[in-house]
Amino acid sequence: MGRLNGKVAVVTGAAVGIGAYYARALAAEGASVVVSDIADPGTVVAQIRAAGGQASGIRSDVSSWEACQAMVQQAIGDFGRIDIMVANAGIYSQLKRARILDLEQEDWDRVMTVNARGVFFCAKAAVKEMMAAGSGKIITISSTTVATGVPDLTHYVASKGAVEAFTRCLARELAGTGINVNAIAPGLTMSENVEANRAVLSATIAAQHRARCVQRDQTPEDLVGALLFLASSDSDFISGQTLTVDGGIVLH
Ligand SMILES: NC(=O)c1ccc[n+]([C@@H]2O[C@H](COP(=O)([O-])OP(=O)(O)OC[C@H]3O[C@@H](n4cnc5c(N)ncnc54)[C@H](O)[C@@H]3O)[C@@H](O)[C@H]2O)c1
Repeated sequence: MGRLNGKVAVVTGAAVGIGAYYARALAAEGASVVVSDIADPGTVVAQIRAAGGQASGIRSDVSSWEACQAMVQQAIGDFGRIDIMVANAGIYSQLKRARILDLEQEDWDRVMTVNARGVFFCAKAAVKEMMAAGSGKIITISSTTVATGVPDLTHYVASKGAVEAFTRCLARELAGTGINVNAIAPGLTMSENVEANRAVLSATIAAQHRARCVQRDQTPEDLVGALLFLASSDSDFISGQTLTVDGGIVLH
């Protein structure tokens, strides 16, 4: 018996990278999963089905309200309900890094539109259905960069700071509804697009290893335990929190 048998999840940004790991892990625990991404989610859907799980795919841009409503409606149409929303989509590996004097309004707006507004829309679309059901888990994805600060990434880190603040506010706003809202804050994680830049990032990666209590690469698999915990009834008494998963750099 999986921990999530009978549950239905939507995972955004799940065609590649960490989101694909989240989608496969939720399915392996018994959840039916809508694999959503602006890119083609077909490979991940096929992987889940080949492993005996249930999944459907949808191409959706999280910065569009209509697209976010459509992916929640697909969960209901295909699997009858929505219990878990993982708002993972974000501009990260394709980020333009720039010092403030070189950072343009369009760079700022693009990152804010996907990373912050996208989380707002995904949560809003899910809340409507979860309120009626009287239960639900909304999981947002922040970053440890909110706590540490990083040069050249003010737009990205500000967008993730917005995600954390939004998570706290929404958790309180939904008090008494049965919906839990929590964030995961990953450290630098070697998802495939990050791995492709290992040579460029080698000094940063080495510095992260030294700073960690667990002194090795962080992999997408390292985030799966936290995701399943926040998606399952094991975390029913936890809301409004940000769970840091970074091998022990940021300590609370
Ligand atoms: N990898 C890391 O080191 C790290 C660290 C902290 C937080 N994060 C966060 O974790 C999440 C996943 O990271 P990743 O390394 O897999 O990133 P990634 O860049 O490899 O993947 C991001 C995914 O989001 C999708 N996406 C982008 N814009 C979208 C949009 N408008 N609508 C829908 N989907 C869209 C992309 O197609 C891609 O599949 C992101 O939110 C990222 O900010 C990553």
